[in-house]
Amino acid sequence: LWLAVGIRHRHSSEPPVENGLIPYLGCALQFGANPLQFLRSRQKKYGHIFTCKIAGQYIHFLCDPFSYHSVIRQGRHLDWRKFHFATSVKAFGHDSFDPRHGHTTENLHQTFLKTLQGEALPSLIKTMMGHLQDVMLKSDTLRRSKDHWEVDGIFAFCYKVMFESGYLTLFGKELGEDTCQARQAAQKALVLNALENFKEFDKIFPALVAGLPIHVFKSAYSARENLAKTMHAEKLSKRENVSDLISMRMILNDSLSTFNDVSKARTHVALLWASQANTLPATFWSLFYMIRSPDAIKAAREEAQKVFETFGVKIDPHNPTLNLTRDVLDNMPVLDSIIKEAMRLSSASLNIRVAKEDFLLHLDNQEAYRIRKDDVIALYPPMLHYDPEIFEDPYEYKFDRFLDENNQEKTTFTRNGRKLRYFYMPFGSGVTKCPGRFFAVYEIKQFLTLVLTYFDMELLDPAIQVPPLDQSRAGLGILQPTYDVDFRYKLKLAY
Ligand code: HEM
Repeated sequence: LWLAVGIRHRHSSEPPVENGLIPYLGCALQFGANPLQFLRSRQKKYGHIFTCKIAGQYIHFLCDPFSYHSVIRQGRHLDWRKFHFATSVKAFGHDSFDPRHGHTTENLHQTFLKTLQGEALPSLIKTMMGHLQDVMLKSDTLRRSKDHWEVDGIFAFCYKVMFESGYLTLFGKELGEDTCQARQAAQKALVLNALENFKEFDKIFPALVAGLPIHVFKSAYSARENLAKTMHAEKLSKRENVSDLISMRMILNDSLSTFNDVSKARTHVALLWASQANTLPATFWSLFYMIRSPDAIKAAREEAQKVFETFGVKIDPHNPTLNLTRDVLDNMPVLDSIIKEAMRLSSASLNIRVAKEDFLLHLDNQEAYRIRKDDVIALYPPMLHYDPEIFEDPYEYKFDRFLDENNQEKTTFTRNGRKLRYFYMPFGSGVTKCPGRFFAVYEIKQFLTLVLTYFDMELLDPAIQVPPLDQSRAGLGILQPTYDVDFRYKLKLAY
């Protein structure tokens, strides 16, 4: 009977196991309702590591931050590609990227590193800078005035500005003169449609990762396919200033893969999603917490003024354009801390590895546990981010939490007097760590500096409570707020 309902018994050398009450789902509902609370209660009961059955899969949750390194170090027993590639196929419908499946020989990981990091960054930063300022100050994306306040939701504001700028930075603009009004209108309509389709598709993303087929969700399916249609090679070839990431992927799609045109286009949709789905809510939380904290906004303004002076950044009131290069942005530790603290409070990404074979997982305290082939090992960083031993008053936003006594980046965090190697993990860990993480932080810093420089801003209700996190997306990255928060903004009279 146990076998028939798929219940696992613990061997003495294995972590304690909880099968849950519902046959296939196991603990899925309790986990899904509030993952942090669920994991904390099990940690209290079982200790550093335990196994839960969730939707037919046995997952070992490792809760001891000092043992995170063991998982990362024992990587030879663990496969990250299996889970990541399979998830991408499920959600975006392209052929598999796993070279073992024979559709491609591209080393996707290398493509990401080459086109999103190091030497690729200055041009990404420069392009983003131009688009952000066009969108904020020139185009009709925002209503703006020097004479009266405009009211908008912070979430809506961040989505409009960041999506359009990020989209144009990765996918370029249609070839042709920018002065042609009809062309401008068509360009605008394309981006607005892309945003609507992105939102429609993104809504059901958790369901797709959980394994539901996209055909169940008719409007989300058409939204995804509409996005893909705009990303066919012949459409992209009519665009200029396409990022290295996308142009290199186009070349490699053609030269190293047997993907058909639809599959190729869907791989670009996957990248659009990866570049926006976390950045947009992270921008929301950073702006929201910054506006809500008078100390944070004051410190950020002072820092911006200081770096402008140091780097000779000047703004012409008649044609305002800021040039925030990588050097300038690298000298803004206050803004870094403002963003990090916002992400500490809102990130909820599960770090997942699949066991390639049976092996013994050694923990920091010298204990070792047997792990079975195909079992999943998961790290859930909110366990660190909300640990009062690591972050005092963990539910409170403190904009300077990641600054040391010299107002530089704080890199030492401890637990029980011991220095932690892992204490902040919104971008994942090890080999699967987000390749876009540097660009993501630069773009949010650019955005915040621009809104600080060009606008006066205030919350409509200064005493507003922090909106709760939408837990339906727990495990997938930065969580969204359950509702938007209104603010008002006005163009500054002087810079
Ligand atoms: C993967 C977080 C922005 C590109 C990931 C992962 C996380 C993450 C948690 C999965 C890591 C894992 O599974 O262990 C974030 C956050 C962002 C952000 C919090 C913003 C605040 C970006 C941006 C880009 C990007 C702006 C590109 C322009 C990617 C790609 C992957 C990825 C391509 C897949 C990597 C792979 O599977 O090898 N990101 N990301 N991300 N991210 Fe980001």
